[in-house]
Amino acid sequence: MSEHVLVGIEDAVMTIRLNRPDKKNALTRAMYATLAAALRDGDVDPAVRCRVVLGAPGAFSSGNDLADFLAVATGGEGGTEVFDFLRALAEAQKPIVSGVDGIAVGVGTTMHLHCDLTFATPESVFRTPFVDLGLVPEAGSSLLAPALMGRQRAFALLALGDGFSAEQAREAGMIHRVVAAEVLEAQVQAAARALAAKPPEALKIARDLMLGPRDALLARIDEESRHFRARLTSDEARAAFMAFMNRKQTG
Ligand code: COA
Repeated sequence: MSEHVLVGIEDAVMTIRLNRPDKKNALTRAMYATLAAALRDGDVDPAVRCRVVLGAPGAFSSGNDLADFLAVATGGEGGTEVFDFLRALAEAQKPIVSGVDGIAVGVGTTMHLHCDLTFATPESVFRTPFVDLGLVPEAGSSLLAPALMGRQRAFALLALGDGFSAEQAREAGMIHRVVAAEVLEAQVQAAARALAAKPPEALKIARDLMLGPRDALLARIDEESRHFRARLTSDEARAAFMAFMNRKQTG
């Protein structure tokens, strides 16, 4: 279990908080493992009816830890934690409400495509520089984003690497509401508590109907993951990770 993910349960709501603010909540393998376990535990725990995912003020998450990526790019073993987390997210059986303030990069953006309600502050920016890093979209985003916002906007997000403001994300259907930073967590928790108070069987059926069969999504996550793993050891990716790691010395 990672000390950088805090998990608590109150009033039938499991709150999962990314807690690595000094690294802008970059996600390590241990953090993915903790996130996956929390989601799976919540799915089977009758005391949990809804989940909340939060980051830190100013940094929801800077995405995958680039030091972990560089380790794989230079011959290390990558592990399966991230892919396990993505499956747990796509297979989630109970609602997830997320709250974003500030930076949301890579999986810090794509994970919200699996959330049922996302609130974000006006200071939030959603960005997925996968192609710039020599990588490909993940978390089923290559399937979910075009369906949600149309191919052109999805291309701007996932291939061009455009940053989407909170308002642009709302217009694209990626998030539910834009709210002030002072009320973000209160509004997220209020929505989660409202969901937790609903008749759980009816809520589950309603959610499942809206999600539809998940086979195609899970197959896409697997397909993306195969490409992603291969790309991690490409020259393009290695150069991009090295450039990030060396940027302070050179910049
Ligand atoms: N992986 C590892 N470390 C990261 C990180 C990441 N994804 N994102 C930020 N950090 C670390 C920085 O190296 C820095 O560490 P240091 O203080 O030990 O030098 C610390 O977090 C703060 O980041 P910094 O870059 O100084 O903050 P910033 O506000 O200027 O910029 C970002 C924040 C997120 C815009 C910038 O850090 C960034 O672009 N990160 C990479 C994002 C990314 O490409 N993620 C992968 C997506 S697939």
